[in-house]
Amino acid sequence: MSHTSDLEFNPLSDAFAQDPHPFYAALRAKEGLTYYEDFDVWLAARFDDVSEIVMSEHMVRSMEHIASAEEIEKQKRDGNWHDMPHHSRFVQFSLLDSDGDVHDRLRKQVFKLFTPVMVNKLRDEIQAYVDSLVDGLADHAEIDFIEDLAANVPGHIIGRILGVPDADCPQLRIWSENIVQYFDIDRSDKRKELAERNTTEFYHYLSDLKRQRETAPKDDLISMMIEAQKAGQMNEDEFISTAMLILMAGHGSTIDVLGSGMHALLKFPDQMQRLRDDQSLMKTAVQEMFRYESPLPFFHRYVTQEMEVCGQRFERGTKFGVLYGSANRDPKQFPNADTFDVGRSPNWHIAFGRGAHFCLGNHLARLDMDIIFSTLLRRFSRIELAAEDVRYKRGLSVRGPDALKIRWSPS
Ligand code: HEM
Repeated sequence: MSHTSDLEFNPLSDAFAQDPHPFYAALRAKEGLTYYEDFDVWLAARFDDVSEIVMSEHMVRSMEHIASAEEIEKQKRDGNWHDMPHHSRFVQFSLLDSDGDVHDRLRKQVFKLFTPVMVNKLRDEIQAYVDSLVDGLADHAEIDFIEDLAANVPGHIIGRILGVPDADCPQLRIWSENIVQYFDIDRSDKRKELAERNTTEFYHYLSDLKRQRETAPKDDLISMMIEAQKAGQMNEDEFISTAMLILMAGHGSTIDVLGSGMHALLKFPDQMQRLRDDQSLMKTAVQEMFRYESPLPFFHRYVTQEMEVCGQRFERGTKFGVLYGSANRDPKQFPNADTFDVGRSPNWHIAFGRGAHFCLGNHLARLDMDIIFSTLLRRFSRIELAAEDVRYKRGLSVRGPDALKIRWSPS
């Protein structure tokens, strides 16, 4: 068994934010799993170890299965998650943080809208929206790719799926970011108050929207979930938390991978040129963007019984950290793992997880990416970095640039 103390594994550091991959490589080189004291987790960094954990039927996401109510309360206090009435009802509980029958029942209610066939029906709408954004920016010689373009797309499209009017989508983005950020670095009381307040506002917003759809249903996710609730498949809290999760899970993550994907194309101009010359590579290029910089690099699991995990014996209730971001750079799984290759095939990356919680929105995220990059390569004959120093977000749970200044010239 190894400990991280000799590694200086500090995922909150600036060095880790700028390039986590040497740290991941060092973890992968260690024998067994590595205990990381600050988060009280055993880290799995190799592809096989990560897969073993997330595919195991004895691993869960929710503490409910392994701890008493008192222990859960203590953990919440330790992490400053307590005294957040709406956040605990609608964010700390969710489809993602449930297991077994509850998870299966909730996932089944929304799964239908996220199949490839359903998602593909949005293609024209996404294309029209991206075109309108690009039209508004095309005569700017320089833009921040994140703020001016990428950040507008995912929230808008998921808002559409939910049934949120276009004009309200920017507000949802703000709520969603403030709520999600509380999961990561800054658990101060100030951020806690903001996360709780925004959860409350979001809750009231969704309740109003639900009331409107109850009298006048539309072809959207809110109306579909109302039917599920009538059929006894969801209660009120599950309804709200599922709607919130869908927005929050798909929003920041897609923005981040759009940013890191664009950054990769700019750092490897030969790969950008290859993609320009053969746009049939767009599908593999998008998959490679997810592998190369996985936007959600870290998740957790608890083991429900004493057992052997990745060759070591662990007690019931042990917490594991699965490093998707590291697994996706494991050279045992991916030849030349540190090379960004837009034609990589096969590419069985694990950026969307695996097993019961496999990402519901993966087709949608890939379609957004496909449309945005295809549009930009078609409409701009030259795209270049405008500032060499690209800063990435701090933290273990997210990966993406804060800003990405680019210069471009229309074709
Ligand atoms: C860049 C894009 C995205 C990435 C990298 C990503 C990644 C992931 C991962 C890794 C998980 C599994 C978590 C675990 O193993 O514990 C997950 C679950 C989930 N994702 Fe995504 N996701 C993305 C986009 C989206 C989008 C666009 C949506 C919705 C529109 C979405 C909705 C969900 C939901 C609802 C779950 C929970 C599924 C369950 O628990 O059964 N995601 N995502």
